[in-house]
Amino acid sequence: MLRLWTSLMLLLLLGAAAAATAATTATTRGCQPSCGGVDIPYPFGIGAGCFRKGFEIECINVGPVLAGTSLRVLKLSLDPDESQVMLPIGWECYNASDPSDTYENWDYGETTMNNDGVYRISNTHNMLVVVGCNTLGFALSKPTKGSNYKYAYQTGCVSFCNNSASAQDGLCDGVGCCHVNIPPGLTDYYFNFHEYDHSAMMDYSPCDYAFLVDRNNYTFQRSDLKMNTNQIMPVWLDWAIRVNDSISEDILSCKQAAKTGQYACASAHSDCVNSTNGPGYNCKCSKGYEGNAYVDDGCINIDECADPAKYPCYGVCKDTQGWYGCECPAGYRSHDPRTEPCTQQFALAAQISIGAIGGILVLAFLAFFFVLRKEKQKARDFYRKNGGLTLEKARTIKIYTRDNLKPILKSSNLIGKGGFGEVYKGVVDGATVAVKKPNGRSVLEKEQFPNEVIILSQVSHKNIVRLLGCCLEVDNPMLVYEFISKGSLEDNLYRADNEELLDLDVRLSILEESAQGLAYMHSQIHNKILHGDVKPANILLDENFSPKIADFGISRLLAKGKYHTGNVIGDMSYMDPVYLQSGRLTDKSDVYSFGVVILELISRKSATDSENNSLVRSFLECQQKGESMTELFDKEIATTGDLGFLNKLAEIALECLNLDADQRPSMTNVAGRLLTLHRSRNP
Ligand SMILES: *[C@@H]1O[C@H](CO)[C@@H](O)[C@H](O)[C@H]1NC(C)=O
Ligand SMILES: *[C@@H]1O[C@H](CO)[C@@H](O)[C@H](O)[C@H]1NC(C)=O
Ligand SMILES: *[C@@H]1O[C@H](CO)[C@@H](O)[C@H](O)[C@H]1NC(C)=O
Ligand SMILES: *[C@@H]1O[C@H](CO)[C@@H](O)[C@H](O)[C@H]1NC(C)=O
Ligand SMILES: *[C@@H]1O[C@H](CO)[C@@H](O)[C@H](O)[C@H]1NC(C)=O
Repeated sequence: MLRLWTSLMLLLLLGAAAAATAATTATTRGCQPSCGGVDIPYPFGIGAGCFRKGFEIECINVGPVLAGTSLRVLKLSLDPDESQVMLPIGWECYNASDPSDTYENWDYGETTMNNDGVYRISNTHNMLVVVGCNTLGFALSKPTKGSNYKYAYQTGCVSFCNNSASAQDGLCDGVGCCHVNIPPGLTDYYFNFHEYDHSAMMDYSPCDYAFLVDRNNYTFQRSDLKMNTNQIMPVWLDWAIRVNDSISEDILSCKQAAKTGQYACASAHSDCVNSTNGPGYNCKCSKGYEGNAYVDDGCINIDECADPAKYPCYGVCKDTQGWYGCECPAGYRSHDPRTEPCTQQFALAAQISIGAIGGILVLAFLAFFFVLRKEKQKARDFYRKNGGLTLEKARTIKIYTRDNLKPILKSSNLIGKGGFGEVYKGVVDGATVAVKKPNGRSVLEKEQFPNEVIILSQVSHKNIVRLLGCCLEVDNPMLVYEFISKGSLEDNLYRADNEELLDLDVRLSILEESAQGLAYMHSQIHNKILHGDVKPANILLDENFSPKIADFGISRLLAKGKYHTGNVIGDMSYMDPVYLQSGRLTDKSDVYSFGVVILELISRKSATDSENNSLVRSFLECQQKGESMTELFDKEIATTGDLGFLNKLAEIALECLNLDADQRPSMTNVAGRLLTLHRSRNP
């Protein structure tokens, strides 16, 4: 059953298609394409088989007319779907013998052009004009079938003239002439007038007139009050395919029409649009196509490239079905070649690159310049803050710029690292130096710094490491010392290989000379210079194992800011307990630390390694118990002959370690006694 239906439908469709093809073939071939200079496109046509029902045109001697009428056709257009025709005017003229009546002297301009319902009077292009003095004119649609009302539309206007001079040329606003808009949907119509007595105006206004006319094509002239009754006026008609449904008799819209065999949009690439004036539909070629949508293959692809004014392309234009391609030639580019000219791609790329690189360079330069300026400013600020001006005046110490020391401050030159900071070895001004770079945590007494540095730079003692200069252009000033070749006593004493084991004599001379250095510093007349962190790590040895005390006063400088809080800086293992308690550094604190150094040298046991000061405690315990200290001495030097000697050294050390700082000997005393001991051994 289903299959039967399908076959039937197919047959019907094929039949319809065949019929349509037959019709269109007839319209495209052997049909008169124009008449009197007016194009006649299908569905309009002249002669059998050349037009769609309702669209017949007759070509007579005056030109084309709507078939069956004498209405001249001025124009037939598919898109927009309009035609322009000449329509007669409606009029009535009064009888001079009886001006109150028109008798048979009239023509209501009735049109019957629309038997098939194709046309509607265009409400957008036309207006109704009534001309006359003392008249009411109006247009009426013809009676509508099946309606309760006789007319679907009635519209009109009143014109009056006070006297013969009232009406003005160019004015159609109620004096001698009036006009109104008309409603959409108006089809066949006629005019009518209300009759008034014209007796007083027969000489200048014997007739009334009414007509539809192109809005842009009529201007009232007073002479029109006596216009020719044969006058015809140009009027625009909207036309559409208005086919009714055989059952409901409703006129079909696009959707409905597309399902019927009489669908008018025959061409491929065509679209159906509902009529804008009245029911029905029209056919248009789709976008990108032009031609006649009512004819098979009537819609032809537009060669957009041939019309650059309408379809611009700055690149290479390539027509496609329904549209066109537009691309820049190879090597060129444009954001949108339809609207923007193509420019050379390389040029653009180059421009962008050059622009970008240029911009980056400028930015980089600015940044560099800015950073440089800021760095310089910073350096100046630090220099001032660190007392550069004071030091400059003193002229006792070399002031290095940051750039002087920069080559030295690299990791390959790093020779030491500690609580103070980092130590680098390098050459500056032809001298081998050690540069001490404090780490950020160091607290320098900024106000005191320049004065202390001046004092330290003036110190010249063979057992004190010489401070050569400093660099102030950084937050924490860097200090430049003479370089001491063999490194610290700590390193030498605890060498893993016993190759260069320090013998007792060397140790003794180290102790004695160190003590002299310390004593010298403590005895400075104007300023007693304290070390604050005496320990083997701070005693350096030159190539002759002669000791040179490093970091004099620096630990104290660093710690000064912390004195009052009771905090102390330095190595706890060597720290004077009194200083730890009071927070007040004295020369006796250095004496205590030196005592620890003596014990370390005779025992070769690191104070740092011993827990709870066990090194000091074990010696103290032995002393208190009156026991022999022999066990505590370094086996390498504790030969039988030297035991007494070592005991004497221990004795001095223990005096230095007295918990009552006042009971401790002075550094000068210690130095003197060590010298005596040294001499007694090597007379
Ligand atoms: C005008 O009216 C007169 C008298 O009523 C009549 O005889 C005459 O035929 C009319 N003229 C026209 C043109 O109707
Ligand atoms: C109307 O006509 C009368 C007589 O011709 C004249 O006196 C009067 O001024 C006119 N009025 C206007 C407003 O034109
Ligand atoms: C009105 O239309 C006619 C016929 O197309 C034309 O000859 C005439 O110039 C037009 N008049 C105006 C005022 O547009
Ligand atoms: C509908 O069409 C039929 C013939 O197809 C015609 O007889 C009838 O009058 C039409 N009705 C209307 C309202 O146009
Ligand atoms: C065309 O008209 C029909 C009937 O009035 C309506 O259903 C349809 O939506 C309309 N189509 C468009 C595109 O306006």
